[in-house]
Amino acid sequence: MMVGALAAFFVLFVPMGLAGWHLSRNKVLFFSGALFISLAIAVHLTPYFPSISRLLVPLPSSPPLLSPISCLSSLHDVVWESQDPPSWSWSRSNPALSCGFQKLGRSDASDLLNGSWILVAGDSQARLLALSVLSLILDPAAMDAVRPDLFKRHSDYHISVPENGADLDFIWAPYASNLTETLRRIEMNERYPDVLVMGNGLWHMLHVTIASEYGAALRDVRRWATANGRSRHMFWLGMPTLVTEKLNTEEKRMKMNQTTWEVYEREVSSSGLLRSFGGPFLLLDVGLLSRGCGSQCTVDGMHYDEAVYEAALHIMLNALLIESHQRI
Ligand SMILES: *[C@@H]1O[C@H](CO)[C@@H](O)[C@H](O)[C@H]1NC(C)=O
Ligand SMILES: *[C@@H]1O[C@H](CO)[C@@H](O)[C@H](O)[C@H]1NC(C)=O
Ligand SMILES: *[C@@H]1O[C@H](CO)[C@@H](O)[C@H](O)[C@H]1NC(C)=O
Repeated sequence: MMVGALAAFFVLFVPMGLAGWHLSRNKVLFFSGALFISLAIAVHLTPYFPSISRLLVPLPSSPPLLSPISCLSSLHDVVWESQDPPSWSWSRSNPALSCGFQKLGRSDASDLLNGSWILVAGDSQARLLALSVLSLILDPAAMDAVRPDLFKRHSDYHISVPENGADLDFIWAPYASNLTETLRRIEMNERYPDVLVMGNGLWHMLHVTIASEYGAALRDVRRWATANGRSRHMFWLGMPTLVTEKLNTEEKRMKMNQTTWEVYEREVSSSGLLRSFGGPFLLLDVGLLSRGCGSQCTVDGMHYDEAVYEAALHIMLNALLIESHQRI
């Protein structure tokens, strides 16, 4: 009881002091709701206040306390619970359980992204992720207006969300060189997105088919993204698992097979752009999520049910929570 009250005291009041100006936009997080309290206990406070972890350890029911790093690496521990409609949740065993991951509701997500600039660049997978972001923060009526504009073929899209002052840009960037160009323009304008999501691969696989060339272009992306370190949060949207027999043209069925997919994946790894390979981008593993959802979650063998992109989005939002806390 005492320990709980003490922990609650620290969790509630210490971050308020620490949050200060460093967190700028994300600082609202510290003041809203149980989600942040549980996350704070799991990932935020303990590294800074070892005395609290000592206090908590003797409690028989308390979960092991984890570092932000291990929580980041458990973000993809999701289970697919039902198929129709597809639904997922985080694994209820450790380490994911102790990290207290939560699906954010509209108002928490809206607070988290308040006043932020979110830039999503890539192919149709990236467009589907942008759609998920907007579906979470806009109300359904506003979404009906957004959908046709966002899905204009091969075009960019911009929206300012009046409710929370967030800006979202989608940049149509099917090739790695288009991502480099996007990064170059960011650098030129010296205006850096708060959240940057990039990803592609399928387009190159179909139209160019030379994986090593894709890899070489990704190394440029890595160079620019590293130079462009002022975008604080960078995510790489992985390629979906392809269901070759469902692809809708003969050319796709021939070129976009499992072997090629794996070769392209290896190029992503060896380019070093991912955090796990020393780079700046945290992977949103759509390959894994789409495989988990299963082949019945895709009609055309590459675009998946919205549940897959929603999972990627909530993984991203939880990563933002963890990283905001870390940056104190
Ligand atoms: C979110 O942004 C809006 C519009 O920019 C602002 O009026 C509001 O106070 C912000 N809300 C929070 C919780 O910071
Ligand atoms: C993307 O890159 C390709 C190949 O470099 C180029 O032909 C195309 O115009 C670029 N597209 C956009 C939208 O910039
Ligand atoms: C997979 O695609 C590659 C690249 O287009 C092609 O060379 C190869 O023959 C295909 N393999 C199979 C098993 O279809």
